[in-house]
Amino acid sequence: MAAPLIQLNDGNKIPQLGLGVWQMPEEDAPALIKAATDAGYRHFDTAARYENEAGIGRGIRDCGIPREDLWITTKVWNDHQGYDRTLTAFDESMKKLGLEVLDLYLIHWAMPARDTYIDTWKALIELQTQGRVRSIGVSNFTPDTLTRLIDATGVVPVLNQIELHPAFQQREMRALHDRLGIKTECWSPLGQSQVLSRPELAEIGEKHGKSPAQIALRWHVQNDLIVIPKSANPERIAANIDVFDFTLDAEDMAKIATLDRADGRIGPDPATADFT
Ligand code: A2P
Repeated sequence: MAAPLIQLNDGNKIPQLGLGVWQMPEEDAPALIKAATDAGYRHFDTAARYENEAGIGRGIRDCGIPREDLWITTKVWNDHQGYDRTLTAFDESMKKLGLEVLDLYLIHWAMPARDTYIDTWKALIELQTQGRVRSIGVSNFTPDTLTRLIDATGVVPVLNQIELHPAFQQREMRALHDRLGIKTECWSPLGQSQVLSRPELAEIGEKHGKSPAQIALRWHVQNDLIVIPKSANPERIAANIDVFDFTLDAEDMAKIATLDRADGRIGPDPATADFT
């Protein structure tokens, strides 16, 4: 089953559902990428920080899917921020991935206290101008860092990848992204599996013959969100993309809306995050 494509503000089209590969061991990556492409995945989301880019690159080359049918994202890590350092980090990532052109390059965290993200963004703009990356975007940006980035450069990211799941629905960020023409991409869409024990998801799942994880992912899809569930298990990888043959009704969507929690964040707060 293939995921539909979502058009970005630069005209490129990204598969709405991809595989997140955080914590995927380098040596397991080729087999898992093959399992994922067999199940219909065409979008893979890695990062320099995940330390598996070489394995992902091998998987991409070996999986049998033409390169032009795949969407590959990677991210510049925090200790490589700054104009020159980002250009170097990009070269290193591309060498490991073994790619000529990247589909999407992201700034992994804004880290506002360091104030290097605008120079980093200028390097991404340069890489796009050179044709080495098709689309550029950000991850873990707040309203402040996002608007400052755009004001300083005039270049609007195609998307902002943020923590977002039924227990942390990020309505304000989504509304801001909509106003700015930025797509919302969701990391940890299953709340690192913590959200799956909510009885509401099981109830809705029974109604549709789907698992709680599939209900959570379908909720993202119907909210026009781009979603990158992580799994290192071939059965769960396949199950997570099997969400395009049913529809949640208004009652289901309303029930999931009630799962939102002000304190539902699991990962670091992007406003204060500062680490390498
Ligand atoms: P595993 O890799 O063993 O499948 P998130 O994407 O929200 O960060 O969630 C990732 C976590 O959820 C991982 O621990 C992953 O474990 C687990 N997971 C992924 N898909 C499913 C699924 N369909 N059902 C249950 N757990 C899942």
